[in-house]
Amino acid sequence: MDEPKTDWESYDGRIRAAKTAQELAAVEQELFGRKAGAMTFALRSLHDVPEAERKTAAATLNTWKRTFEELIALRRKELASPSDDMLRTTDRIDVSLELPARERGHLHLIPEFIREVEEVFGRMGFDIATGPEIETEEFNFNLLNIPRDHPARDAQDTFWLKTSKKDMTATSLPLQGERLSEGNVGGRKGLHDRDRKNPEERLLLRTQTSPMQIRYMQSHKPPLRVIAPGKTYRKDADATHSPMFHQCEGLMVGEDVTLANMKAVMETAVRALVATNAEFRWRTGFFPFVEPGLEMDVRWRGNESESREGKWLEIVGCGMVHPNVLRNCGVDPKKYQGFAFGFGLDRMVMIRHQIPDLRLIFEGDLRFLRQF
Ligand code: PHE
Repeated sequence: MDEPKTDWESYDGRIRAAKTAQELAAVEQELFGRKAGAMTFALRSLHDVPEAERKTAAATLNTWKRTFEELIALRRKELASPSDDMLRTTDRIDVSLELPARERGHLHLIPEFIREVEEVFGRMGFDIATGPEIETEEFNFNLLNIPRDHPARDAQDTFWLKTSKKDMTATSLPLQGERLSEGNVGGRKGLHDRDRKNPEERLLLRTQTSPMQIRYMQSHKPPLRVIAPGKTYRKDADATHSPMFHQCEGLMVGEDVTLANMKAVMETAVRALVATNAEFRWRTGFFPFVEPGLEMDVRWRGNESESREGKWLEIVGCGMVHPNVLRNCGVDPKKYQGFAFGFGLDRMVMIRHQIPDLRLIFEGDLRFLRQF
């Protein structure tokens, strides 16, 4: 009796065409299922094949069987590691797709400006130093030629810190004359006993960055060039004064540093930082730690009539370092001379961006800050 011939070839095609692991498993089951698998059945039926044909029939079946087993294994592997074809549809990246804009932060405009200042002075060979915002009366005033009874102290009223014995050891002020680490002139050591006994070691929030002149000269020998940007404090608050504000001290000392060098350095810096076409006016000004003392006003012509453009604005005090100050730092005023200046950084930022009220800069209103 002739059994209807099994169409083995069609299985071959179906294995190759299986799209998923499940589809493949189904075909496998149809072939090799223990009860109703076509191949299982065919092999079992070999008993019924007449003796003469059995050998060839068995050989043919076995060939198919191996072929299918190999094909299935191969296809299973292919389905497990997706082909390029599949990736093209399932893992497609649409490079033209517009993603929601990512929010990016940026520096506040003051630290951003300070970086520019450092860059501009860095190009002129100035070192950068930072020091403590909590200063001693000695550094902030006395060594700068402003003794306790000097009227110049009135203009710089500030915040004094209550200092118990305990507080003094907790403060992180470097010793006078201590060898300071490069760049950072504020150390981490507490004050020594001998300093604590000094009545001039009262602590205050520094009113100016000028104490950095002292700190830097006590730890570096001339010739030297340095700027020291940072926060300063005074008891002031209106549209152009904030109790916390920023200054950048500058100091250049050498054997032949003159007022002409000072003008050149400062004008170069302001042109780079505020406006290339700035005009300058120099007036005498009094600061106990310079002689002669000067103030520089800046003006430049822009487009907007509403802005401060076109008006003279005082942005910096400066002058030749007073011999007493040099002496206080162990520098011989007969051999060395130099200049110092103190830029008001917030003022410069106000002029540059035409900001009408200084307080806006520190209020932290994002609508304001995002404009820069
Ligand atoms: N420290 C002075 C001030 O705050 C500015 C200044 C610095 C003046 C250096 C002269 C030299 O007003």
